[in-house]
Amino acid sequence: MLRLEKLVKTYKTGDQALKAVDLEVPSGQVLALIGPSGAGKSTLIRCINRLVEPSSGKVWLAETELTGLGQGALRRERRRMGMIFQEYALVERLTVMENVLSGRLGYVGFWRSLARRFPQKDVDEAFRLLDRVGLLHMADKRADELSGGQRQRVGICRALIQDPKLLLVDEPTASLDPKTSRQIMRLICELCEERGLAAIINIHDVALAQRFVQRVIGLRFGEIVYDGPPDGLSPDKLTEIYGEEDWEATIKKDDEAPVEAAE
Ligand SMILES: Nc1ncnc2c1ncn2[C@@H]1O[C@H](COP(=O)(O)OP(=O)(O)OP(=O)(O)O)[C@@H](O)[C@H]1O
Ligand SMILES: [Mg+2]
Repeated sequence: MLRLEKLVKTYKTGDQALKAVDLEVPSGQVLALIGPSGAGKSTLIRCINRLVEPSSGKVWLAETELTGLGQGALRRERRRMGMIFQEYALVERLTVMENVLSGRLGYVGFWRSLARRFPQKDVDEAFRLLDRVGLLHMADKRADELSGGQRQRVGICRALIQDPKLLLVDEPTASLDPKTSRQIMRLICELCEERGLAAIINIHDVALAQRFVQRVIGLRFGEIVYDGPPDGLSPDKLTEIYGEEDWEATIKKDDEAPVEAAE
């Protein structure tokens, strides 16, 4: 579904953020990308949809090489990739509904969307999504009236209304409290399963990643140093990814109460 081949990103400053990364993500797979600050996680996610232009290497989305596309074709392909950000990136003075519908911009065309004339089926789908994430009653509220968790739910709806095949998620929970973080992480993972989406979720909270995903990629200095199941993240492996630290308190314990029961 997604394939990265020897992906390299060197910024103009000389920072080598990615060093020949190879990665294959089958359709429907949700994976967590972990690693210390500066490891290249955001760069990797942004090179996939070319918000950041890779220096060399290839990105394939199904049969299409994204790295070879001109602007028009790239815009079309970007519809197949939904993006969710830490800082939500909502338009503050627009309503929840308008923010969700803005996810259709890639389809509806600029002038039509400026006049906010979205097709009824888009509006219906927006209502369905808001209902799914528990925000139906907030459709007419302005974005700046929402809590962080609610804002992220709107961000999720906006990504999903594009009907993507792949979700690129950059620290979705970094601004949220622990309980809300868990709820948002669970929501993203459930929605991926319901819709058969693949996702790359860049996340700092290792225990949270371990709870919800099938595969973890550890990145360090722009290289993949771990690729495996969440349970394989031993203290040694975490040291390899993050450097020296006492990991016993960080790793998810088997005897911990299941999340469902804890909430
Ligand atoms: N626009 C940029 N210009 C120059 N260097 C950059 C730019 N963006 C990132 N870098 C550098 O690239 C490397 C990787 O950064 P990146 O933001 O991808 O890391 P990250 O793993 O997402 O970190 P964090 O966990 O702090 O978000 C860092 O050394 C960073 O300083
Ligand atoms: Mg980052």
